[in-house]
Amino acid sequence: MLVNFNDMLQKAKKEHYAVPQFNINNLEWTKYILEECNKLNIPVILGVSEGAAKYMGGFLVVSSMVKAMIKSLKIEIPVCLHLDHGSSFESCKDAIDAGFTSVMIDGSKYKLSENINLTKMVVDYAHQKQISVEAEVGHIGGSEDNISSNILNATLEDCITLYENTKIDSLAPALGSVHGFYKGEPNLDFKTMKEINEAIPIPLVLHGGTGIPEEKIVQAISSGISKININTDLQATWSKAVREYLNSNNEVYDPRRIIGSGEDAIKNKIAKIVTIFKTKL
Ligand code: 13P
Repeated sequence: MLVNFNDMLQKAKKEHYAVPQFNINNLEWTKYILEECNKLNIPVILGVSEGAAKYMGGFLVVSSMVKAMIKSLKIEIPVCLHLDHGSSFESCKDAIDAGFTSVMIDGSKYKLSENINLTKMVVDYAHQKQISVEAEVGHIGGSEDNISSNILNATLEDCITLYENTKIDSLAPALGSVHGFYKGEPNLDFKTMKEINEAIPIPLVLHGGTGIPEEKIVQAISSGISKININTDLQATWSKAVREYLNSNNEVYDPRRIIGSGEDAIKNKIAKIVTIFKTKL
């Protein structure tokens, strides 16, 4: 069942666990994620970046593929198809019009008032169609920014102001996490995380889930995080398995065998991650 993230994240917030957002890159990953989450009987959010959507042929290709897969594979868990880091109103609108059930509008590169205006436009369009909206406050850097000044942490005041002026459905406050691998230990601001969680009633999202040690994930969930995004971890896990397979199977040329050699590794990794998140239906 393709749904927005509201019910799954509100339940996670109330019961103190996290729902995973796994980013998809192609048909095979989508299939592995859906099959494994269905087997584990947990809800899942499929994250699609603008770049990944373009790679796969566009938003309509992605949503048609996901819908068809849910039907053909008899997937019974709630699945949310979510645009990750939408960069403009037009991009969010295009994803929604193509059948996505959720969008993130990332106005983090703008000053707060502009971020609010942009986010509000997306919320007004999305909410008419029961589509959920996530926004970002502060700036979540890439791994190249780690331990540098490019990470701009969110403040409690800015989070409250953005929420009150937009009525978004979830918020990703930048509190020290980065996309990609960390150089050294991630330094997450759990105190502000808790304060934001107590001040606004919507679920909080942790971006840059790859490489955060288990005890910090647990602490983040107990500080109010209800959705955790994972991309790099599955990419690295898949690449390692495929590289090993190719190294010892020099003669193989069937792409199904090559791509498929990462299937078990991805599925095992998902099972491990959601045990830490304590994800449930
Ligand atoms: P990682 O690539 O660090 O797992 O982050 C994923 C993410 O936050 C997508 O929005």
